[in-house]
Amino acid sequence: MAPASDSAITKTVEPIKVTVTGAAGNIAYALLWRVAHGDVFGPEQPVELTLLEIEPAARAAEGTAMELGDSALPLLRNVNVSTDQTKAFEGANAAFLIGAKPRGKGESRADLLEANGRIFIEQGRAINDGAADDVRVLVVGNPANNNAYIASKAAPDVPAEHFNALMRLDHNRTLSNLSQKFGINSEEFSKVVVWGNHADTQFPDLTYAEVHGKKLIDRIDQDWYTEELIPRVAHRGAEIIDVRGKSSAASAASAAVDHMRDWVQGTKGRWTTAAVPSTGEYGVDEGLVFGFPVVGVDGRWQVIDDLDINEFQRPRIDANIEALRAEAKVADGLF
Ligand code: NAD
Ligand code: LMR
Repeated sequence: MAPASDSAITKTVEPIKVTVTGAAGNIAYALLWRVAHGDVFGPEQPVELTLLEIEPAARAAEGTAMELGDSALPLLRNVNVSTDQTKAFEGANAAFLIGAKPRGKGESRADLLEANGRIFIEQGRAINDGAADDVRVLVVGNPANNNAYIASKAAPDVPAEHFNALMRLDHNRTLSNLSQKFGINSEEFSKVVVWGNHADTQFPDLTYAEVHGKKLIDRIDQDWYTEELIPRVAHRGAEIIDVRGKSSAASAASAAVDHMRDWVQGTKGRWTTAAVPSTGEYGVDEGLVFGFPVVGVDGRWQVIDDLDINEFQRPRIDANIEALRAEAKVADGLF
């Protein structure tokens, strides 16, 4: 038995500071409990949450904070509500940038570009000035890739690789479709990737996909792949809005959890999709935030950069480069 004096010593782990914007919104409501429960940073890592909202939604965010408190979550050390961006990002080790307008029926995500883009200039600047050196920023608010580009551009002192956009939802949607088609659990599929932009041009790619170590591409119906799977995944967001009346929220939160967890904790060699700033891989302009095949290693993403690209893939990847180039041009004009 340990001596009595030893039993009095409790191991203290410093809480990680996590800022969540749009904290009174739908996605945040599904995300915050997962973060506070240890699903992202691990079951031993305490968290301190800062909920950033705009003034009209600050009271609702207070309500969310009250509910978090009522949940008696052992890892949750503190919850702050703020409408002050400078304060909200001070010392942040991780940030989920969710706060932005969702699109409505009949709108494209690019329709949100200017209105939402400005939010990310201000938040990028606040991150630049006050966040911790190791800050990891995951942009969820649409158009997510371009907003991550904007936030990174507004934060010149933070390495670009600290800014990602969420394309894990598209990746998960692809896996779910495969799972339903083949009647096999989604985790049995590997080497799936969704290239490009979280937009209609995105390219869910099965070229390298495997199931139980065997190539999938030779076993799939090409018509199903090109005429059904690719457009279904690319348009799934609009389909959800049509059926649900609001944009996806719980599935987006779940994907954000997957992304940040794998970024921090690694993927043990498994491929996934993350939208990360290009350093020129596959002909993507440097700086564009692009969905690539990645593995998480030692707290960083590594883009799998040595794949052969065939004639089926090239134009689909190029369509995303062009779309993101055009969005970046508009974004550059906002500064
Ligand atoms: P929502 O309308 O329920 O919540 C958004 C919240 O953001 C609101 O509470 C609003 O007050 C707040 N907000 C607005 N501007 C803000 C600012 N400057 N700072 C802080 N908070 C601010 O929307 P939601 O369903 O949570 O969706 C949020 C965003 O995520 C939308 O742009 C949506 O299109 C996008 N989205 C992205 C993905 C993806 O896969 N990348 C998936 C789903 C939704
Ligand atoms: C989604 O893919 O569900 C989100 O980006 C919401 C949208 O506007 O489609």
